[in-house]
Amino acid sequence: MANETIDWSNLSFSYMKTDYNVRCTFRDGKWGEIEVCTDETITMHMAASCLHYGQEIFEGLKAFRGVDGKVRLFRVDENAKRMQNSAKGIMMEPIPVELFEEMCKKVIELNARFIPPYGTGSSLYLRPLEIGIEPRVGVNPATEYLFIIFATPVGPYFKGGFQTTNVAIYREFDRAAPLGTGRLKVGGNYACGMRATAKAKANGYSAALFLDPKEKKYLDECGPANFFCVKDDTYITPKSGSILPSITNMSLQQIARDLGMKVDCRPVPVEELAEVEEAAECGTAAVCTPIGKIYDDGTDITYVIAKDGQPGPWTTKLYNRLRGIQLGEVEDTHNWCTFIDV
Ligand code: PLP
Ligand code: COI
Repeated sequence: MANETIDWSNLSFSYMKTDYNVRCTFRDGKWGEIEVCTDETITMHMAASCLHYGQEIFEGLKAFRGVDGKVRLFRVDENAKRMQNSAKGIMMEPIPVELFEEMCKKVIELNARFIPPYGTGSSLYLRPLEIGIEPRVGVNPATEYLFIIFATPVGPYFKGGFQTTNVAIYREFDRAAPLGTGRLKVGGNYACGMRATAKAKANGYSAALFLDPKEKKYLDECGPANFFCVKDDTYITPKSGSILPSITNMSLQQIARDLGMKVDCRPVPVEELAEVEEAAECGTAAVCTPIGKIYDDGTDITYVIAKDGQPGPWTTKLYNRLRGIQLGEVEDTHNWCTFIDV
């Protein structure tokens, strides 16, 4: 697509073809050379382990054009570490952190013309993914893997950006098992969550809020994002073995402390929603999206969190500080951003 025709301020969170993707294959016990590709497709054996036995993991991270014109990649080292953890969790080959970082830099450089300009609210989303490509009929891990990163410019995940959205709890669905893969970023978790999300959307909600899969008493996570709420100047976020450790949540916890809030990471009972002053979902795609109402299908209770329908004061401050750091408007005191020379 010619750059002049891209409406940077009105991008949705969807795939747009860019110029290049980068790839690397693990074979004979080692990672090969980084390949630069224009092809958007993959040719693989029909018995590849990713197709039958779900050996697939992915990541999501963003690069931003800042107020100073510089390009910042947010917390790439954390995504690299999480991807290693996901790989180990389903017996795949962990990608060396340096290779992950080098390929992220390369894909941004190669697609520099797709980095949205500062002030548009959009960013360049990187999607690293790893798949088992060795033919397998018996259930055991592959010894050959393909690692790809593609880049695509995106706007907000939830329509409307920073404004309240409503979510729903449906007890008949889980996205992960108590001792399963919820902590890992594996494709199968997202397939498991689709029925709940579809039901939420059909009923006018933007996402499903999952409960802990063991007792169904505590909040877990919210669609493709973590959940946090605010009460008595405290940032409260669920502690659970079945949620993905969100890098955005980790960053917001630090920002909350920097802003003078207390931080409490603990099991959060559903009924506590009646007492919280603010709530939000957070993630790379969702950023920090304030929650207006939460409907619990099991009890037929609607928790009205944002009484006036507006984002709360703490959520707004947290969002602004996070965006400010990503866009170079606020000093990056924790060294979260990596500058990319493009
Ligand atoms: N939870 C789930 C299920 C996700 O898919 C994501 C997105 O990556 C998150 C939480 C948020 O994680 P992060 O902030 O690292 O993007
Ligand atoms: C992200 O926030 O980067 C994600 O991976 C969420 C995605 C599943 C939409």
